[in-house]
Amino acid sequence: MAPARFDVESVRRHFPALQRRIGGRPVAFLDGPAGTQVPTECIEAITAYLSQSNANLHGAFLTSQESDALVTEAHQAAADFLAAGSGEEIVFGPNMTTLTYAVGRAIGRTLGPGDEVVVTRLDHDANVAPWLALAEERGATVRWVGIDPTDCTLDMAELEASLSAGTRLVAVSLASNAVGTIPPVRAIARLVHAAGGLLWVDAVHAAPHMPIDVKALGADFLVCSAYKWFGPHLGVLWARPDLLRSLPALKVRPAPEEPPGRWETGTQAHELLAGLLGTFRYLEWLGSQSDAQVDEDAPGDAAGRPARLRAAMSASRTYERGLLARLLDGLASVGAQVRGITDAARLEERCPTVGFTLAGHHPRHIAAFLGERAINVWHGDYYAYELIRALGLAESGGMVRVGLVHYSTAQEIDRLIDALAELSAQGGQRRGLAGQSTV
Ligand SMILES: Cc1ncc(COP(=O)(O)O)c(C=O)c1O
Repeated sequence: MAPARFDVESVRRHFPALQRRIGGRPVAFLDGPAGTQVPTECIEAITAYLSQSNANLHGAFLTSQESDALVTEAHQAAADFLAAGSGEEIVFGPNMTTLTYAVGRAIGRTLGPGDEVVVTRLDHDANVAPWLALAEERGATVRWVGIDPTDCTLDMAELEASLSAGTRLVAVSLASNAVGTIPPVRAIARLVHAAGGLLWVDAVHAAPHMPIDVKALGADFLVCSAYKWFGPHLGVLWARPDLLRSLPALKVRPAPEEPPGRWETGTQAHELLAGLLGTFRYLEWLGSQSDAQVDEDAPGDAAGRPARLRAAMSASRTYERGLLARLLDGLASVGAQVRGITDAARLEERCPTVGFTLAGHHPRHIAAFLGERAINVWHGDYYAYELIRALGLAESGGMVRVGLVHYSTAQEIDRLIDALAELSAQGGQRRGLAGQSTV
């Protein structure tokens, strides 16, 4: 059940895209794990920046000074979102993948033979392939951590066994973009640090679903992407300040020696940083509506913003948990096979992203059938390349993925389940799909 004060209709009024209809039907945006919709605050802030303040930085004129202020504020707000110490700990870039390759490259300059990097089969390939490439280039060793296929959790025994005095970096995700699993990252951080390694956390999938506190997690690096949490197409990296200062950044000579400037190559997408601030204003509104504790007496606006952002994400998490239970029940009722945690007592260990197959129906055709009914879901492997292979689903088209976020509704879930029941009733043969699917 949603908490009394989570008013999803008020939430939805902030998102113009949610008014979209296709074929007379409202669109159910259950494709959030691939990118969420954005609130009016974000859209208007982008337009306002481009129409009023568009300029490059560090000039001696007003629009440039406005741009300087905007960029500083965007760093501070992102730091508040991640409970980081200061805006200087935040690095913006085009997306998570590009940031991981860029900062990973600097880490790679410190690696050599005998060093080990640890990657997992639960992760999106953007948190695997960059480390494989570095290890190959630097002659380092790769250690793999597998999953328990019965519930798609990380094999913690294998993780522990993979650590040694040679461990330099461990790359894990805070939540799986395919099956929603939330690995025990705090415990992993303790193990990694005891071995003397650094922990790189991919929070791309987790960020729309929960408050993140980089220090409490014990991360050394954490990356996420604003377009997955109601913002524009931007990547955000947080790292321990000493690492941001000491790692050998690849930069042009006139660029600042200090972080974040030494990591932010070239000119940033200022209009998107403006949009990001709009998204944070929206999330602050959401947080101020919620039952969660907001310390309004904290001094200054910036001091209140972290609490409001945290409250927004806590309220979202609670609301989404109710929807998730409904989705899992509905999928069970139509005979869908969900991969991942389904036990109602363990929903804390996952977020509301559900991968499933339906016997006799190819995932692509399920997604197309739903798409014809204005229900947007994803299919395939969504770059969870290793996981889909570990589950033996690569040859049969992967899975259908339904992603709920805080603007999703119970009615949308019911529409999805009704459509799947209709598809099941038709049978795979009648859709002409026999033989195309083994699941
Ligand atoms: C868990 C996860 N990590 C990384 C990425 C890559 O993010 P980006 O598109 O920002 O490079 C994605 C994108 O879907 C993702 O879901």
